[in-house]
Amino acid sequence: MTDPSILLIIGGGVAAYKSLELIRELKRRGVAARGILTKAGAEFVTPLSVASLSGEKCYTDLFDLTDEAEMGHIELSRSADLLVVAPATADLMAKAANGLANDLASTTLLATDKPVLYAPAMNVRMWAHPATQRNLKTLKSDGALLVGPNEGDMACGEFGPGRMAEPMEIADAVEAYFASAAGGPLNGKRILITAGPTHEALDPVRYIANRSTGKQGYAIAAALRNLGADVVLVSGPTTIPDPKGVEFIRVETARQMMDACEKALPADCAVCCAAVADYRPAIETEHKIKKERGGLTNIPVTENPDILKTISQLKDGRPKLVVGFAAETDDVLCHAEVKRKRKGCDWIVANDVSPGAHCAMGGGKNSIILITDKGDEAWPEMPKEEVARRLADRIARALSGPTLVKAAE
Ligand code: C5P
Repeated sequence: MTDPSILLIIGGGVAAYKSLELIRELKRRGVAARGILTKAGAEFVTPLSVASLSGEKCYTDLFDLTDEAEMGHIELSRSADLLVVAPATADLMAKAANGLANDLASTTLLATDKPVLYAPAMNVRMWAHPATQRNLKTLKSDGALLVGPNEGDMACGEFGPGRMAEPMEIADAVEAYFASAAGGPLNGKRILITAGPTHEALDPVRYIANRSTGKQGYAIAAALRNLGADVVLVSGPTTIPDPKGVEFIRVETARQMMDACEKALPADCAVCCAAVADYRPAIETEHKIKKERGGLTNIPVTENPDILKTISQLKDGRPKLVVGFAAETDDVLCHAEVKRKRKGCDWIVANDVSPGAHCAMGGGKNSIILITDKGDEAWPEMPKEEVARRLADRIARALSGPTLVKAAE
């Protein structure tokens, strides 16, 4: 099969600069992009930047004889597997919804027989306007796909929905589309993931927690979803947005996480990424503990359920593949290997979280050792999203075998 390709229509919005990053990100994922830049889009980025990054000519003009001689708009509209409009401005969406065709971008959108993914980007009031919402409804009923918009600060100084989705999110949506179109390798597989910290209440105002942000677990959920899996993500408290297209269950404590996981089973695979508190205060108090009474100097604790161990040692309905994590501060490999055996999981993803380590908790990068029963593999330092993609790939390969393929190639 040839590599998937997209036709990227870049509209005239401040977010156009993010589309340059999108081209790079897609390229990294093996998706080729050819660009169309609208007249307004060219006010924000240049055809030269689009062409340099995509390695393809950037098309701009419906009436340019050279362009039309090289690739006419009809041919262009069918040259890719998917059309992506980013930024999809209010104007472009209105034209597409109403079938207008007065420039290269709108003509291409009208002429195409391929699916179109829109990444809207506009001022919050323009987004909320009944006309835009009407156009959106029309586009959706015509079969358009949508990513974003996100809520946040806008270049115009306002706050609300209208920010274009980040390049990573758009690339995820593109990858997810291609995976489902190709019948992704994890289609029909159910995968349970735990992520984030747990909060264990001391009293109504205080809790025991840890530094986990949930970033690695959320990235794994998104990567597995991109390969077509039905993902259930059970997450402790985090501040990052829920990944789209996964069943999301928010919990607070280890016991709630355990309950949610038990309810979510059976699954083909479980990835326990959460930094679950090993202990919780033995007594739950309804009232705030008073420091004057010395109540905080001696807090009896009791052990929490071990979710990974429980799932790994299930007699009935054990997932075919159970993956645990081991955040260690010293002798990483040795401790992680002991942990794999003690918990009974198939794989352990180990990482060094000592204060001096490059990839301590909370950062954007990770450097892991994947431990299976066949040995260990140290991966170089890479962004957490990349760790997630590689791990998802390995999981897909392991689950596709007739029996568990426990080791690397
Ligand atoms: O024992 P430790 O906390 O170091 O083990 C880490 C691994 O075990 C992680 O995969 C974590 O998600 C899982 N774990 C769990 N439930 C616990 C403690 C850890 O699922 N109570």
